[in-house]
Amino acid sequence: MAHQLKFSFDVVLAFLSPLIIIWVAYRLSAPWTWADLRGFLSLRYSKPFYGPFSLQKAYQSYAKYSRLSANEFSHKRTAYNSLSRTHKRLGHKLGYPEKLNKLQYVTDLNAVITEGIAEVARKDLQVDDIHTGPGDLGRVREALKHFIRDWSEEGARERDRIFEPILTVLSQINPEERAQKKVLVPGSGLGRLAWEISQLGFDTTANELSFFMSLAFRFLLSDEATTSKNQHHLRPYAHWFSHQRSNESLFRTVSFPDAIPRLTPNLQLAEVDFLTLSPPTRTLRNPESFWSSSGPQDLPGYDYIVTLFFIDTSLNIFATIEHIFTLLRPGGTWINLGPLLWTSGGQAKLELSLAEVINAATEIGFIFREDDICAQRAVECEYTGDLSAMMRWVYKAEFWVAAKPK
Ligand SMILES: *[C@@H]1O[C@H](CO)[C@@H](O)[C@H](O)[C@H]1NC(C)=O
Repeated sequence: MAHQLKFSFDVVLAFLSPLIIIWVAYRLSAPWTWADLRGFLSLRYSKPFYGPFSLQKAYQSYAKYSRLSANEFSHKRTAYNSLSRTHKRLGHKLGYPEKLNKLQYVTDLNAVITEGIAEVARKDLQVDDIHTGPGDLGRVREALKHFIRDWSEEGARERDRIFEPILTVLSQINPEERAQKKVLVPGSGLGRLAWEISQLGFDTTANELSFFMSLAFRFLLSDEATTSKNQHHLRPYAHWFSHQRSNESLFRTVSFPDAIPRLTPNLQLAEVDFLTLSPPTRTLRNPESFWSSSGPQDLPGYDYIVTLFFIDTSLNIFATIEHIFTLLRPGGTWINLGPLLWTSGGQAKLELSLAEVINAATEIGFIFREDDICAQRAVECEYTGDLSAMMRWVYKAEFWVAAKPK
């Protein structure tokens, strides 16, 4: 009897635990398909659970882009088919069913890019081609929009507004000294800002946690995938029918990249959590100076840390600011530009106001610069906005420059 009881308890447990895990995963991510669910169940014991920004998750999402999008078409089709016959006739006159077909067609064209990205992941990172867990269509689309923001001519307007204050501060450094200056760009996304900084001559490290972003960046960095300007084409707005003036603007094509980035000795990529980074050591120009205590210039740490639309992604903003402080050398500079859109889903441990962020940074030891080009100020800007849409989302992002004392 006792044996029986224990047996059934085990069975219940064995049955329940995957369900609980699935429920948690469901709460954390996009809807699952049955195939995802089956794949997840069958591999649950042989594979660890992959985080939402992991290589495996990002790879699968890119690889499954077509299939994930197909779910959406069928939803749109079903909705249309539920119309009355008269309304369907009207819809037919407007060409709405053709529009749905066109969506499917342009999604297949976009899939050329997502498959190219998955291919780079297989070649460069030897990612397993095993399909576990659900894909995240939202994050793929977001990353695709970053091709437009970071690497298209259409995105130049958006970029210029936010890069300009940052690059102006960095441009004050004498060009001959720049190669000796280490710059870290956490949350570097598709890498345009880090690339621009490296083009100015700085020793730059792009740091990105999300493989949704870094796989897309690697697609541009790859000698095989990207060889010429404006070689790739995307219809980045096709899936969102809201706020569109016409079919032309909905389905329009944007080409990229407007420049071809490559990793070089002065542009490196660190695909890890920012909080796990440690201060870089310095290669001393003059070994003697190690003994003659040469001053803060030669202490380990970055000379500049540039955070653009980054700090509000922190689960713990105190830890982020503290870590920026730790990674800078004494006398090093933190340049920030961004809003305070705290990580969604109430996951952030703290959701501070701007005044509170500034106070926290001051408590941690930062000294805010007030001189003209460094003065703290609001910068109106957009983020992956659609230039021809009927709506515009404008941030009044805050810019500041703060120093770690010598
Ligand atoms: C919108 O696009 C579809 C598919 O290309 C076409 O059939 C329809 O006529 C278009 N409607 C307008 C108003 O341009």
